[in-house]
Formats: sequence, structure tokens, C-alpha cells
Amino acid sequence: MKLYVKTFGCQMNVHDSRRIEEIFRSAGYTMTVDPREADVALINSCTIREKAWHKAISETGRLRKLKRGRRDIIVGIVGCVAQQEGERIFDLIPGVDMVIAPDHYGQLVELVEEVKLREDTLVLTGFDRGRPEDFLTPGPGTSRREATAFVTIMKGCQERCAYCIVPTVRGPERHRPIEDVESEVRGLVASGVVEVTLLGQKVNAYQSGEVGFAELLRRLDSVEGLERLRFTSPHPRHMTPDVTSSFGRLRSLCESIHLPVQSGSSRILSRMGRRYNVEDYLLVVSKLREACPAIGISTDLIVGYPGETNEDFAETLALIDRVGFSGAFSFKYSPRPGTRAASLDDDVPQDEKVRRLDAVHERIENLERRWRGSMVGTKLEVLVTNEGRMPGQVSGRARNSQIVNFVPTDGSTIDDLVGRLVEVEVTAAHSHSLEGKPAIR
Ligand code: 5AD
Ligand code: SF4
Repeated sequence: MKLYVKTFGCQMNVHDSRRIEEIFRSAGYTMTVDPREADVALINSCTIREKAWHKAISETGRLRKLKRGRRDIIVGIVGCVAQQEGERIFDLIPGVDMVIAPDHYGQLVELVEEVKLREDTLVLTGFDRGRPEDFLTPGPGTSRREATAFVTIMKGCQERCAYCIVPTVRGPERHRPIEDVESEVRGLVASGVVEVTLLGQKVNAYQSGEVGFAELLRRLDSVEGLERLRFTSPHPRHMTPDVTSSFGRLRSLCESIHLPVQSGSSRILSRMGRRYNVEDYLLVVSKLREACPAIGISTDLIVGYPGETNEDFAETLALIDRVGFSGAFSFKYSPRPGTRAASLDDDVPQDEKVRRLDAVHERIENLERRWRGSMVGTKLEVLVTNEGRMPGQVSGRARNSQIVNFVPTDGSTIDDLVGRLVEVEVTAAHSHSLEGKPAIR
């Protein structure tokens, strides 16, 4: 039996897809990248922005055509669109067999069998209670030869930013017990993982009994063999001094952070319900830089939020320069059903949103270019994870998150190097990566 999974959306979804694959693998399935070969085809969908939702829906539409030619393939929509749309998906896209929301992946294999038996559609939405067993962990049969891994420490979000559908599709916040997080990390490290990224929709709001996020970072930093620790995505409101000062102090905590700001106008931030203003954000940035001058700070930005004037937008551009972001994901605002912002007048015209997005892209690209350029001639520690694009090249990330490609000079192959930390001298900066050569010690 073969499983095909197509994934959209955030790292949480990417991580969930890996877990889904493991669940099916341990039930005897093999994976395929060709949906025509599949016995079960799943779309792991995202609904954060209108465009993501459209993509997931049209991909499912494509699978439906496949189903017409083959009655025995089970087509499922899982992920955030499943939670958002539920039953309605069957009207939107006839031919879908099952709609399963994220908190029910543990039962996916059984649910596929149930659909086959009952020859009818099946919907399972809603949230679990966040018990220890409700967090998907690496199961038996996991192939864990990889050097990096994600570890979910909390799920859901109840921040309720006005534009955001996440609380609707991922439910209330549930935090994983500290003992489980620690034991998963230790298990991963024992199996060869050297870099762990902690995942959560509001990761730095983590709390398990007395243990808050900064204490969690400290405890994981003491895990022997864990070389690198990262986390995504934090909320600026929870960047307390004990978290900012962890950078530069904890040996494993990497010199990079993705810290979504969303807007450079305090007026718009307030309308977004972000519960911080531009000064608060800049204070966090200065604390981070004080603790760790080399830190790369990237962000998320929304342009064209309801009521965003030219002046508000100019403040966003000014903030970009002031912080000197090392990168950004920027988006045109789109109203999402059920959110508070959906009832506001979406009053920034499309062409103006496009213009603002282009302006943001241009600034960010310039900053990225400058930042990458400043690394030429320096030495970076690269964790090798895969082959590079060019023949003979291997590829990995530096602690500051930059992708670095280089050709090993000692005859080592990618199999020798995966999971190894190599000192690389940067020789060139390209538009999305760096190039280098192994440094002579
Ligand atoms: N419109 C545009 N962008 C959005 N994001 C979240 N909701 C919306 C929306 N309705 C962006 C935010 C968030 C990222 C994951 O997606 O920038 O940080
Ligand atoms: Fe998309 Fe949000 Fe769901 Fe991630 S949690 S897949 S960003 S809707």
C-alpha cells in the first residue's frame, strides 16, 4: 500500500506530515511522490491566508480527477482547511473521502480502513485535550538518520490577533509536559540528531508547571550531544528578559530568531490586537542584540491591513530599516472567515497592496544581500544536512540560519558528512545562499 502526502503551510504542518508518514509506515505503507501510484492520497492543507486556502483546494481538485479513473484510491483532506471547512469540503470538492483535522492524526490508518468499509465519507474535526498522548511523537519504525528534528512543545493559540484564523483551526493552547519534551529530545539526540527546533504557534508562551520557556531552553541546553537549539514562532509579547538573555549565553541556542512583527505602525498593531507597540518590539530587538550582537532577526509582515494608511505603511518601511532584518516573509492582508478583522472594511485596494508588498520585498532583499555579503571572508560552522545543487557540493545551515554550500576537499562524501559540523570559510554570497570552502584549521 502506498501513501502520497502533499503539504502546504507552516513548519507545524511540515512536521505533522512527517509524523503522518511515520504512522502509515509503521502500518506497512510505503511512500510515493506520484499520486497516480497512491492507495491513499492526503492533502495537508493550510488556511492562514486566502491564497494558501485556494492552493489546497485546487490541489484536492486535481486528486479528485485522479479518483475518477481509479475508484480504489482514498482521498483525504487533513490539516487546517479540514478543521475550518469540515463537512462543507464534500460540497466544495466532490470525490473527497475523508476530512480529518490535525488532532486526530493518531487514528488516520484506522480511519482509512473505516472509510473503505463503510463506502461513505467520514469527517473528524475538533480538538483534543492536550494530554501527554495527544502530542504526536516519533513512532516505532521511524527512520531517524537525520541530523535535525522538530519537537512540538505546545499547540493551539489563544492570543486572538484580529486577522488570524489559527485559534479557530488549531484550538486553544495546550502545553506539553516538560518531562515528555526532555525525553523526546534525549531520544532524538541518542539517535544522531544534533539540532532541534522547538515548535509551537506561540512557542515562547510555553509553561509546564513551574517551568517556563527560558527554563526549558536552559534544561535542553544541558543535554549532552545537542549541538544546536532553535525555536519557532515566538510572540514579541512573551520575549521576556530571561528569554532574550538566553541568546549568547546558552551554548546550543543559535544566533538567529524569527520574530514576527506584522507592522511598523503602533496604530495598526493595536488594531491587529497584537498587544505590543513598535517601541516594545524595538526594546526586545535591542535586548537581543545586546545579549548576542551577531544575531540574525527575521520577521513576518502584513501589508494592506484594514485602515492602513500611507503613513502607517511608511512606518513599516522605516521599521524594516531600523531593525535591519535578516529576512522576512511578507503578505498581503486577506480576510479570514470568523476572525475579528473579517468584519472590518478591507479598504486597501488590491493594486495598492501589491505596490506595498513590492516595496517591502525590495527593502528586505537589499538588507538580505547586505547581510549575506557581510559574511564573505568569515568562518561559519555549518551543519551538513544534504547534497548541494552543484555536483560534488554538500549543503547545510550555519548557526545564523544561512544556507551554505561547499565542496569537501578531503574526499568526504555526503554520507560521511551528514550530521557533522564543519568550519567553512565563506567565499561568495548568492541571492539565497552562501558558498564556501572548508576552513583550514
Ligand atoms: N492575511 C495575511 N497574512 C496573514 N498572516 C496571518 N493571517 C493573515 C491574514 N489574514 C501572516 C502573518 C503570520 C504568518 C504566518 O501569516 O504574518 O505571522
Ligand atoms: Fe497554515 Fe496556520 Fe494551519 Fe500552519 S497553523 S498550516 S500557518 S493555518
